[in-house]
Parts: sequence; structure tokens; C-alpha cells
Amino acid sequence: MVGTSTSIWQAIAAPTTYPPLARDLAVDVAIVGGGITGLTTALLLKRAGLSVAVLEALEIETSATSHTTGHISEVPDIGYRELIANFGEDAARLAVQSRRAAIDRIASIVQEEQIDCGFEYLPGYLYSESYSDLDSIDAEAKAARKLGVQVNTTTSLPLPFPTTKGIVFPNQAQFDGVAYVQALARSIDGGGSYVFEQTRVVDISGDSPTRVYTRQGTIAAQKVVLATHTPIHDITKLQDVYLAAVRAIPYQSYVLGVKTTSPLAAGLFWDTADPYHYTRRYNHPELGELLIVGGADHRTGAAENTLKPYEQLEDYVRSRYHVESIPFRWSSQWFEPTDGLPFIGTAALHPHIYLATGFSGNGISYGTIAAITISDSILNRSNPWIDLYSPGRIKPIATAARFIAQNLNISSHFVLDRFKRDVKTAAEIPPGSGKVLEIKGEQIAAYRDESGTLHARSAVCTHLGCIVNWNAAEKSWDCPCHGGRFTCTGEVLTGPQVKDLDVKSISQ
Ligand SMILES: Cc1cc2nc3c(=O)[nH]c(=O)nc-3n(C[C@H](O)[C@H](O)[C@H](O)COP(=O)(O)OP(=O)(O)OC[C@H]3O[C@@H](n4cnc5c(N)ncnc54)[C@H](O)[C@@H]3O)c2cc1C
Ligand code: FES
Repeated sequence: MVGTSTSIWQAIAAPTTYPPLARDLAVDVAIVGGGITGLTTALLLKRAGLSVAVLEALEIETSATSHTTGHISEVPDIGYRELIANFGEDAARLAVQSRRAAIDRIASIVQEEQIDCGFEYLPGYLYSESYSDLDSIDAEAKAARKLGVQVNTTTSLPLPFPTTKGIVFPNQAQFDGVAYVQALARSIDGGGSYVFEQTRVVDISGDSPTRVYTRQGTIAAQKVVLATHTPIHDITKLQDVYLAAVRAIPYQSYVLGVKTTSPLAAGLFWDTADPYHYTRRYNHPELGELLIVGGADHRTGAAENTLKPYEQLEDYVRSRYHVESIPFRWSSQWFEPTDGLPFIGTAALHPHIYLATGFSGNGISYGTIAAITISDSILNRSNPWIDLYSPGRIKPIATAARFIAQNLNISSHFVLDRFKRDVKTAAEIPPGSGKVLEIKGEQIAAYRDESGTLHARSAVCTHLGCIVNWNAAEKSWDCPCHGGRFTCTGEVLTGPQVKDLDVKSISQ
């Protein structure tokens, strides 16, 4: 599909074929989004006896989950020192316990549902290539131990290039995310519960029961879970959901699947660079052994040329490994929370609507934590993490700098991008490319397909009106403000918006 590159896991998976919603329906819980968060929540609720409907706009295997590198780690992206600084030691300990519980919950689901997804426990390594990081590695290990995480430091990392020091985290895990979520979907569908694909939710209204509207029909449900990575919302109705969404900042991350003759050890590896590189190995009966390397992250919609991060990543890997070939390249989006922990729970003014966002690069663990927390909450079970992850929490000191920077960034895009024109005329747009141009005072996002036909849409994002940018690597239109992404021909891919870019007509 144009607009999302293909990960290894997508390439080897047989696609799912759940039908679109075809009629109105009533269930206990409607779950919007068929990634790890939505499907795990649905499974836990179905197991508890509730009827659920998972509504997926595209397919199960097109989610961000299907683009992950399958690291299942207990180590938060912000690190233990910042976690303690932002939340205090007691809350940080709770966060650590939840991350460990997520790994173990995935392991037990794999076992109970007999899922063939290559799940295995292995060590994780945070390491540096620089001598200037030695003190910081020691301080991070000390903070981890303070929170009860078992770690060792080492100067002997199992990597084929020079490193200085690292921290070893035992009992992390890896898996194939597509095989996992496809198996969850199989367990959910049937017995009065449903999985629907090609079913985009376009509106939500009412309290209880809530109405969840799609183009094909309406679902009535007591509770609604927005498991859409960043929560969809109509700002005129769901200001509280909007407020949670704007505290999660969108980034794009890039991955290569590499054939290498360098020795690859079992383990999850990530370095201290900013943005960091993350690697693991993967074995497949036909593809053989591959090195999976990710990194080169940047804010969504902010890169001039989105092919450049692949070049950076390729330079990185070629300077450290003997590369035979690079058969896989893909990228996708993740959301960074302003205070370092995700937002999971009910919207402040709409207690029947649950949301989960801001997972950083740790959405496999946090998506599972979200599923446990939200399902416990719906089932009125006690859960120790509800307050910790509440979307309504306020951490002014931890949040202020990033929140202000985020809003300044949005304001500057909102104002300055009004003057953005990539080209003067449509004739300057080559086949397979998209450009923003001005026609009669309007900014137009124009894409010329490989056959030469021009597709013209308004460049104004249907969320809150920022101007979209062309993403050459993904062949998508990406909004720099809150991570709204559209296909080259203007249909919603993912993000907080639910409407396609307006169709415009211009001469070819
Ligand atoms: C390149 C990359 C590598 C990563 N690697 C890792 C990793 O190794 N380990 C890790 O823990 N995390 C990783 N992450 C982060 C992780 O991918 C995400 O945090 C996680 O997959 C989010 O899961 P989710 O279920 O919340 O969202 P998603 O998996 O994105 O699922 C949300 C679903 O909602 C659907 N949807 C959206 N809007 C609507 C609508 N209106 N109606 C119906 N459906 C809708 C979407 O189509 C999508 O399928 C990585 C991220 C990137 C970008
Ligand atoms: S995603 Fe918010 S304005 Fe585009």
C-alpha cells in the first residue's frame, strides 16, 4: 500500500481478511484500532465475558505495531534517572513494575494462545561507543538498581565494533509483532465478539451507550477505547481527548533489514546516541539471518528529504558491520509524551472513553500495560497503575519545557507554512512525486502518479489546519503538527484526524 513501507514481518505474513462492518451493532465495548493496544484490550475483555468489537480503519498488519522491530523491553526510553526526577522514586518503581509485568503478560498470552511468533527471552544492552559516557552509564545503572531492576555493567559488549561500556538487562524479550497481533485477532473474532477491517471510525457521540460512527454503520457500546496510537477526536466535541493528544509529540523512525557476514549475538541493543540506534537479529527459515537496525528519528513532517534518514542509517551500519545487502527498509511513526510516560485511561470529561498514547519507542510494553490498565478499569478491578498513567495527571516541571517547545513548533508551522510553496507550477512535479503549490491563493498538495496523472488535494490538514508536507520515502502527506498522515492521494492513513484532504481540481 502506498503510504506505508513494508516491514519484514509484513512481508512474510499472510494478510488478514476480516470483513468491514456491514450493519449497526451493539456490544459492551467498542475498540477503535487493531494494533497491539486495541487487540490486547479486546482479548482481555472478551476473556472476562464482555462482548467487544475491534474497528480497524485499514488492516491488522498495517498498524505501527506491524512496523516495530519487536523489542520487548522493560527499560523506558527516558531512562531511570529522568523517570525518578520526573515522577519520584515510588512512582518510578511502579512504572518499572508495570514494564516487567507487560513482558511477562505477553509471555503468558503467547503460551495460553499457542502463538507462533518467535517470542524469546534474551538480554538487553544499553551501550556507548564514547568514553565521555562512562559516568552516565554508571549513573543510569545505579538508578536502575535503586528501582529494583537487576542490572550489571560491562566493558565487553557482544558487538562487532568498538564500544566503551554498557548495562546488561537480563530477561528482556523479542518477537514478531505481526504474527502476535494476527493471533490475538483470531482469538477475539467470534462468539459474539468481532474484528472488522477497512472500517474507519469517523465520529463518536453520546454518553452511555456511546455511538461510534463508521461509514458502513454505527456501533452502540457502553465504553469506547481509542487504541489508535494517537487518539482520534473532533475538537469541537472532545476537547479533553485533544488535550491528551497534544501532549504526545509525533516522530518518524527508520529501519533497515540487513544481510551481514558479521557475527550477531542474541540480544536487544540500543546506544546512547541522540537519536539512538537500536538493533537485534532475526532468523527466518527462508530469509536466513538478518540484522535489524533502527534509528535516524526526526519529528514527523519536519524532514526536508525523508530518503536521507535511510542514507544515515546505511552509513551507520556499513561503518560497523560487513554488509552483503539491505533487502528491507521501512519507517513508521511513534509519539513522545511530554513528561516521559504514556497517557492511559479515561478522558477527563468523558469517563466512558478510554485513550492510550505517548508510548515513545516502547509501545509493545506500553500497549500491553494500556490493555491491562484499561480492561481492569472497565471491569472495575483494582489496578496499581491507573493514577500513574492517567491522562489527567499534571507534571508541570517535567512537562513544561517539552510542552512549550511543542506548542511553539506547532504555532510556527501554523503561521509560517502558510507561505510554503515547493514549486510554482504543476509541470515541475515529476512522476511519483508530490509538491505543495499555490493555485488562486490556495495551497494545494499535488501528487503526480507514475502514469503522469495529477492528484490535487487541499494542503490544509483536516485536523486543525496545519499544512502537510510531502514524505518522499513513504509517498505520503505528513502533517508536522500532531502526526496526521494521508496517502499520496489524500486519504487518511493515521493520526488524530478522521477526514481526507479536500479534493481540488487543477490542470495537469
Ligand atoms: C520504526 C519503529 C520501530 C518501533 N519498534 C518498537 C519496538 O521494537 N518495541 C516497542 O516496544 N515499540 C516500538 N515502536 C513503537 C510501537 O510501534 C508503537 O508504540 C506501538 O506499536 C503502538 O501500538 P498501538 O496499538 O497503540 O498503535 P498502532 O499499532 O498504530 O494501532 C493503531 C491502529 O488504529 C488504527 N486507526 C487509526 N485511526 C483509526 C480510526 N479512525 N478508525 C479505526 N481505526 C483507526 C490504525 O490504522 C492502526 O492500525 C516502534 C515504532 C516505530 C515507528
Ligand atoms: S495533525 Fe493536527 S493539524 Fe494536522
